[in-house]
Amino acid sequence: MISVPGYEVGGILLSEDEIRDRVKELGRRITEDYAGEKLLVIGILKGAFVFMSDLIREIDLDIETDFMAASSYGSGTESSGQVRITREPGISPQGRHVLLVEDIVDSGITLKYLKDTYFADRNIKSVRICSLLDKPARRMTDVTPDYKGFTVDDMFIVGYGLDYQEHFRQLSHITYLIEK
Ligand code: IMP
Ligand code: MG
Repeated sequence: MISVPGYEVGGILLSEDEIRDRVKELGRRITEDYAGEKLLVIGILKGAFVFMSDLIREIDLDIETDFMAASSYGSGTESSGQVRITREPGISPQGRHVLLVEDIVDSGITLKYLKDTYFADRNIKSVRICSLLDKPARRMTDVTPDYKGFTVDDMFIVGYGLDYQEHFRQLSHITYLIEK
């Protein structure tokens, strides 16, 4: 089992099969909701890259894909409250329906900033959020994902793209950190 100094991972919270079924369902709903439309799907790096790669293969529409990087985290497990855009998307969102793909909504600070500030007033047809996980216990804003995979309790989640200091992203299931 993989561990890092001070922490080890717990049991399986969401299995590979559970995740696969839910991602299929999300892709089906997105396909229905945007029927006849084009969609720009923007994954928020790095946490969303695993989810994004599975999700887009379940969307049966003419989509364009891009990535951007934004983070409200420093290097630990607590939000710094500030959002930094560290990579701008390459495709202009103007005149497009935009779907932001996130790994987890925690405080909601990152998505609040993206939705209400970064993507506001840019002549965009619509902006919606698809997050694999939702951790409402720590919400500090009024953001809720339009599409969400699972609600999780107030734990530090890793696996399936989610990291602790860049570790554990490669796990096929979702688990949580335990302090040693
Ligand atoms: P927010 O702005 O507080 O909602 O934080 C969003 C970002 O913080 C996510 O995209 C993750 O990268 C990171 N994050 C929040 N909670 C967790 C967690 O439990 N595990 C791993 N990363 C997390
Ligand atoms: Mg992260």
